[in-house]
Amino acid sequence: MNLIVGATGILGSEICRLLAGKGEPVRALVRATSNPDKVAQLQALKADVVVGDLKDRRSLDAACRGVRAVISTASSTLSRQEGDSIESVDQEGQLNLVDAAEAAGVKHFVLISFPNVDIDFPLQRAKRAVEDRLQRSGMSYTILQPTFFTEVWLSPALGFDPRNGKAQIYGSGNRKISFISFQDVARFAVAALDPHRARNAAVQLGGPESLSPLEAVRVAEEVIGKPIEVQHVPEEALRAQHSAATDSLQQSFAGLMLYYAGGDVIEMTDTLRTFPIQPLKSVRAHFQGIG
Ligand SMILES: NC(=O)c1ccc[n+]([C@@H]2O[C@H](COP(=O)([O-])OP(=O)(O)OC[C@H]3O[C@@H](n4cnc5c(N)ncnc54)[C@H](OP(=O)(O)O)[C@@H]3O)[C@@H](O)[C@H]2O)c1
Repeated sequence: MNLIVGATGILGSEICRLLAGKGEPVRALVRATSNPDKVAQLQALKADVVVGDLKDRRSLDAACRGVRAVISTASSTLSRQEGDSIESVDQEGQLNLVDAAEAAGVKHFVLISFPNVDIDFPLQRAKRAVEDRLQRSGMSYTILQPTFFTEVWLSPALGFDPRNGKAQIYGSGNRKISFISFQDVARFAVAALDPHRARNAAVQLGGPESLSPLEAVRVAEEVIGKPIEVQHVPEEALRAQHSAATDSLQQSFAGLMLYYAGGDVIEMTDTLRTFPIQPLKSVRAHFQGIG
């Protein structure tokens, strides 16, 4: 049995879909408050849907029973209920899950994190603390560290809205990022269940090319066929937001936006030898899909 925690999220639901498509057993952890349509989609995949919460250790002990591998994608950054925070979910909750998995005799744990960034913010502290605990656990592990998801960071949710002729960009927009599709991250996560692949390793993940956000704007203009007005959030404003933030979520968003402004190029040649996952989805293909 494979347990997916975060199964109602963008990435977790795609992982469940891929696993079910391969005929692999899927246990999906959802919450009593999760979106019923997303839960119904998991049930339609014939997943074993169990209710739990990262803040509730007992529910995690039950969910981990009889499980061989855990994949955890959960995060409170975009999907929060009362009592959820970076500290209670992304840090303490994920630590609870590592402990519960180890105690239940889980063999392998796949954690979705992100690359080490030279900026201090609560989400990064949480990810590093969980990585550290996992590395010291008795389980084998694969820590996947994807950079920015194309469908999140080049989407209207974060102000990048080519269909409406507008794009908000954090910083100058000149530094390159290896934007990666969440669908490809899901393929890597499923491949990481293979016991012969990337055992006890942290693997950075990027897409097939590196583009600056301004280059991404040009690609979107070509694909959608209309001009896009660019609005910049200056790096100084992000720095001010990062130092003034009183709340861990705000500080984490400011940290992530500063990270984006600084660019993030991931060299994938070696990783694609270990994980023969090709082709990776390009930014152009993403815009063609929304065109
Ligand atoms: N977006 C990016 O660019 C990016 C880049 C690198 C890494 N990542 C990482 O990728 C991962 C997946 O992101 P995503 O976009 O799929 O996130 P998402 O769509 O917001 O999904 C988050 C999931 O976590 C669950 N969750 C939240 N709090 C929980 C709790 N207390 N107990 C149990 N489950 C809880 C949510 O459940 P409900 O539906 O019940 O709320 C949902 O299933 C995250 O770990 C993120 O840090 C993201």
